[in-house]
Amino acid sequence: MQRSIPADLILGGATAAYQIEGAAAEGGRTPSIWDAFSRVPGAVIDGHTGDVACDHYHRMPQDVALMRELGLQSYRFSTSWSRVCPDGGPVNPEGVDFYSRLVDELLEAGIMPWLTLHHWDMPQSLEEAGGWPARDTAHRFVDYALAMHEALGDRVVNWTTLNEPWCSSFLSYTAGAHAPGRQSVADGLAAGHHLLLAHGMAVRALRDAGAERLGITLNMTVADPVDPSSVADVDAARRIDEQYNRFFLDPIFRGHYRDSLLADVGHLGLDAVVQDGDLATISAPLDVLGVNYYHGDAVSAVPPTQAPLQDAPTDRPIASPFPAAECVYIHARDLPTTVMGWEVQPEGLTRLLRMVHEEYTGPAGTELWMTENGAAYDDVVAEDGRVHDAERTEFLRAHVGAVVDAIEQGVPVRGYFYWSLMDNYEWAWGYHKRFGIVRVDYDTQERTVKDSGLELARMIRERTL
Ligand code: BGC
Repeated sequence: MQRSIPADLILGGATAAYQIEGAAAEGGRTPSIWDAFSRVPGAVIDGHTGDVACDHYHRMPQDVALMRELGLQSYRFSTSWSRVCPDGGPVNPEGVDFYSRLVDELLEAGIMPWLTLHHWDMPQSLEEAGGWPARDTAHRFVDYALAMHEALGDRVVNWTTLNEPWCSSFLSYTAGAHAPGRQSVADGLAAGHHLLLAHGMAVRALRDAGAERLGITLNMTVADPVDPSSVADVDAARRIDEQYNRFFLDPIFRGHYRDSLLADVGHLGLDAVVQDGDLATISAPLDVLGVNYYHGDAVSAVPPTQAPLQDAPTDRPIASPFPAAECVYIHARDLPTTVMGWEVQPEGLTRLLRMVHEEYTGPAGTELWMTENGAAYDDVVAEDGRVHDAERTEFLRAHVGAVVDAIEQGVPVRGYFYWSLMDNYEWAWGYHKRFGIVRVDYDTQERTVKDSGLELARMIRERTL
């Protein structure tokens, strides 16, 4: 039986500045931490950089035309801090102008702009001044946020402060898998706290400046104990859940770090950076929570028999992003996987949305949006010139279905953005992993709508699964 997609569920696509724009040294842009990190030998597979990426900076009008063709209702993009405020300093009008033109094109096409201020590409000069472990970076972020709002606040309604602060703290400063590649437990914790602080300060400043709808996007996992009757496995799942999800959810929605988390990691550097008043700032009321979900994890205190999945392809040794969780192991389950090695687990998404709604966003009266969900597969261009990406198409249908399940169970999810609108620079994996519903041929920059893109367009038109 065909299921219907609620008429008011907004369907769209998402990208991020460093992953698609290119034009890394044009229009006054200065290097970001990803320009620097991608040049560290072994940090990114084959030394790929975002110098050209999808050349979106030069092809923006055509890309918006493509979104219009697909019928996207909304487009989630990020602005590049080092394009708007080169070296983290004063505003660069040419940088702002690019986003101003993008927003005009979107509005002209009837597509709602959804703007994210920080999708990981902090100016390299700010990293050299201490990066996210330094408190001052939060103040610089507020300057940048206000500059963007001054330029676009008359046309952009939806403002997201940060994308996935777990990645820009623990994956970047503790594991060293992402830029800037530091490996320090204390730096990761300080970065996490200062990202939260930057979020809270920006929410306050943007609200004062008249911003209408403010939010943050968090990546979350569903941690299931391998053996639910094992106290040690249940505790392993707790640690992953707390260090991945609750580290951010609790301060934002409840104004505190929970005691069990503090007992695990407080003494490792977190206590040292939390100042009086920070948590009140961080818990400023929020209009929107964006959820990014890719997969859950089966976790145990006992090592798996097969080799663990590797979350980055790098030649450099990567540390665990989870402080005080040395005895936690991720186990593969009997589920299909994408080429990232990530399990395809749509039912985990329904459970996650229920948990977030029941424990956090529902009581706070905050809207819930799916700001990312997607899959990488090894696409092939068929003889007919098309990309028949059946697995991604099925992934998309299954996950929109999981969102509809959540809605039917009483969770008011407002929107779903597929990651990604187009194939792009997949961070430490360079151009080797393709998440797009539009294929990008990196030699010619030609765009081809894949079957999954046609399916998303159909869903938007027909509102059925
Ligand atoms: C990020 C994207 C990334 C995607 C797939 C998310 O964590 O926000 O930038 O490309 O996952 O790895």
